[in-house]
Amino acid sequence: MTISRNQMLEFAAQYGTPLYVYDGDEIINHYRELYDFIGHKKLQICYAMKANYNFHILKMLNSVGAALDTVSLGDVLLALRAGFPANKIIYTANNITDQEMDEVKATGVLFNIGSISELERFGKKFPGSDICLRFNPDVKDGDSDKTMTAGDLTKFGILMEEVDKTVEIVRNYQLRVVGLHEHTGSGIQNVDSVFQSMKNLMSLATRERFPDLLFLDFGGGFKVPYMPTERRVDYISMGAEICKLFNAFCKEYGRELKLVFEPGKYIVAEAGYLLTQVCCIKKNRERIIVGCDSGFPQLIRPVLYGAYHHITNLSNPDGPMKVYDICGNICETGDRFAEQRKVQEIHEGDILMIANAGAYCYSMGGVYNMRPMPAEVLVQEGFAELARKRLSPQELVDLIVDESTIPQD
Ligand code: LLP
Repeated sequence: MTISRNQMLEFAAQYGTPLYVYDGDEIINHYRELYDFIGHKKLQICYAMKANYNFHILKMLNSVGAALDTVSLGDVLLALRAGFPANKIIYTANNITDQEMDEVKATGVLFNIGSISELERFGKKFPGSDICLRFNPDVKDGDSDKTMTAGDLTKFGILMEEVDKTVEIVRNYQLRVVGLHEHTGSGIQNVDSVFQSMKNLMSLATRERFPDLLFLDFGGGFKVPYMPTERRVDYISMGAEICKLFNAFCKEYGRELKLVFEPGKYIVAEAGYLLTQVCCIKKNRERIIVGCDSGFPQLIRPVLYGAYHHITNLSNPDGPMKVYDICGNICETGDRFAEQRKVQEIHEGDILMIANAGAYCYSMGGVYNMRPMPAEVLVQEGFAELARKRLSPQELVDLIVDESTIPQD
């Protein structure tokens, strides 16, 4: 972390809490590290913007040459607005409506299609187009059942055994398959799963079936530590093995293809923090309940996945460790950032810092209980800027109340 405790406390005072703080330098470092780890000359990192679509972060990543993984028309429009050229955007939606298909096609981005039925529909509408095909690599891994995106319980990807049927459809509509894709899961626990998924996808990618390939895309899912005791994956040796496997594949295929990965968490998770102020401390018999001014709509991972997010008391960093339930301000008992967690002694008014809040926190947010999402601050080279302002509750009400739908009497 390059932002000091005092700076964090200043941000909390200046912008108010709850507040997301992002370390832009760390985001860029993570992005660049991937190029060091995976030292392949035709590597392209496509940032998975679902992890964090803050406009300033997108612009920053565009300025260093990142490409982008998008999942909806909204993502595509935002990406274009941030300056990404259409040819650096891949669109991997599922359950696409006809209308979305038309509107996204008009933007010129590359479709990554993961079902036979959508492929048929796309082929009929847009014969002769370039496409990428998403296969289910049949390897199960990820940091929770909900985020494993391969194997037999998932809705994603075309089954490997359907490859020849897929090729038939491709030929029927003269589609040009320029890429093949797989995504195993988020927070992949075992690096062997990465290699196995690569091998499975590469086994489908014969010159005979797919003569026009320009790239293979092996998705995202690079794990980062969430617990202080968790060891970092040895990405240097993982990168070396990836290059070895991919080079051998290209040799057999007979052409040097681009090697694509689409990480989200790896680039932004550790670079984000959620600051929240303690409003109320009370006891429920044996438990000490710490009530914060944020809640699960602003950081849902503990509630949804049972995820661990480290919590530090910025206002009392050297205080004795005590056990607390750290709760949010939403009207549900399950609204806890942490249960029976040791944190430096907490008093009302203290500022708590929740770590790993850069990925899938703001982006999965909502306004349940009519609490507006927090502001976001981006720090780059020591300089902080407001990267998105907080709506006031009144502004939120004004957005929601649409006078034109209210009957006049
Ligand atoms: N590519 C595809 C096709 C994906 O579906 C995803 C994530 C990624 C790339 C990026 O994965 P990453 O590198 O960020 O792990 N909300 C969950 C994670 C869901 C990920 C969904 N897809 C969480 O908070 O853990």
